[in-house]
Amino acid sequence: MLDKKADILKLLDHYTNPRNVGSLDRKSADVGSGLVGAPACGDVIRLDIQVDEKTGKIVKSAFKTFGCGSAIASSSYLTTLLAGKTLEEAGKIQNTQIANELCLPPVKLHCSLLAEDAIKAAIKNYQSKRPAAAATNLADT
Ligand code: FES
Ligand code: FES
Repeated sequence: MLDKKADILKLLDHYTNPRNVGSLDRKSADVGSGLVGAPACGDVIRLDIQVDEKTGKIVKSAFKTFGCGSAIASSSYLTTLLAGKTLEEAGKIQNTQIANELCLPPVKLHCSLLAEDAIKAAIKNYQSKRPAAAATNLADT
């Protein structure tokens, strides 16, 4: 019971005091960005990640979420999980981990799924930019 109360407090904390709100320089080759929407409600998360090219680890992340409190809290909590993770590790983060940690009710499970979708999309975008990065700074297309 106590744990559940702590989880709800964590949910409220991430909602009222979200971490890492904002955006990163998406034109930069070391930044990947994911934009995802929840079909159920139309809420949207934009997540940017910056990757250290030498270590392959995420060094920074930032998000903007246009949506419900659970989506904001899920995004915020997600960014606290990302720092120092490899892309492989980050790609394995599951919405159930976020939902359990924040004690989301079943009706709000899709909000945490949106966060999972966002990190997957950001990783994909980062990886899609790698050939371009190697081909020395071609003009923006
Ligand atoms: Fe209303 Fe997401 S359904 S804010
Ligand atoms: Fe749809 Fe939370 S993302 S209600």
